[in-house]
Amino acid sequence: MVSSFNAFLVRQEENGVTAGMTTLALDDLPAGDVLVEVHYSSVNYKDALACSPDGRVARRYPLIPGIDLAGVVLSSANPRFREGDEVIATGYELGVSHAGGYSPYTRLPGDWLVPLPDGMTLKEAMIYGTAGFTAALSVHRMEQCGIRPDGGKLLVTGATGGVGSMAVSMLSRRGYEVTASTGKAAERDYLTMLGAREIISRDEVSGGERKALGKARWQGAVDPVGGGTLAALLSQISYGGCVAVSGLTGGSAVETTVFPFILRGVSLLGIDSVYCPKDVREEIWRRLATDLRPRDPALLLEREIALEELPDALAAIRGGQARGRTVVKCR
Ligand SMILES: NC(=O)c1ccc[n+]([C@@H]2O[C@H](COP(=O)([O-])OP(=O)(O)OC[C@H]3O[C@@H](n4cnc5c(N)ncnc54)[C@H](OP(=O)(O)O)[C@@H]3O)[C@@H](O)[C@H]2O)c1
Repeated sequence: MVSSFNAFLVRQEENGVTAGMTTLALDDLPAGDVLVEVHYSSVNYKDALACSPDGRVARRYPLIPGIDLAGVVLSSANPRFREGDEVIATGYELGVSHAGGYSPYTRLPGDWLVPLPDGMTLKEAMIYGTAGFTAALSVHRMEQCGIRPDGGKLLVTGATGGVGSMAVSMLSRRGYEVTASTGKAAERDYLTMLGAREIISRDEVSGGERKALGKARWQGAVDPVGGGTLAALLSQISYGGCVAVSGLTGGSAVETTVFPFILRGVSLLGIDSVYCPKDVREEIWRRLATDLRPRDPALLLEREIALEELPDALAAIRGGQARGRTVVKCR
């Protein structure tokens, strides 16, 4: 068994936080009934918040961030897992109050783990990561709500981001007519390559005069942006349609009226990947390996980085500059 290893650690200092590589021992890892050799993690917006003094995500220091990971079980006292099993973890307290994926090893409760689905590699699991899981959960919930490939256009906001790019790719592969909204005018080709049929600017969704009910343009929307974008698009959803909201890169306050809900029967679906129940979690990962698998997962992988390269990648995603998915090779 390894005696020491290098992990990415955030520490609280007098004037904020510092983040960087540090040498740890297995005894430094938190309690848990499964020890995992982490092969891959990924970079999510929440990770950037966990490493920021004003991010209000980290709930203890020092902390190994990384809200998702894929790896191999080294030892287990949990009856569901044994040495050699390939596993995925996303959400729960990972990278928030419990050591996360930015380390070659972590120890965690086995109840947080999902078996790697057949046909998926550890790296592919982290190309999807929390963002892909969230996009898939959004699609899953919207399909339960009645969206259909022949039901009209679907809008994906924040389309070049992690959740957005995954949603564009997944939905287009399933035959939906996807409109991608983005603040990055230069990324039209990228979004077309992912399968978007139409690309519009952020302002086209949320700019202009705000009406309680606007022209019905979309049968539904995957929205990781929130804020004014969510308020505007709610008024543009067709009768009986739905919006799956997962994020707040555009703000947390949403000023709307009851009219989309009471005059068009629109449903607002809250998407939470963190405490998603285990049976749904396993089903979503199975779907990610089968019918929700993006057409070409490699197209979604923007960069593969080492733990040492995390500061730049975290700054880019915090600044809204990242595109697609960044995978972190942890060993
Ligand atoms: N509910 C959950 O369980 C869950 C799970 C995962 C993520 N999330 C949340 O979902 C959001 C997206 O996460 P992510 O990992 O996909 O982040 P990301 O990769 O940074 O993507 C977010 C995208 O939002 C757009 N954006 C950024 N700033 C904006 C602004 N000021 N106004 C409007 N749009 C803006 C950008 O896309 P364009 O430039 O293309 O517009 C950006 O790429 C975050 O708030 C995250 O915390 C929630």
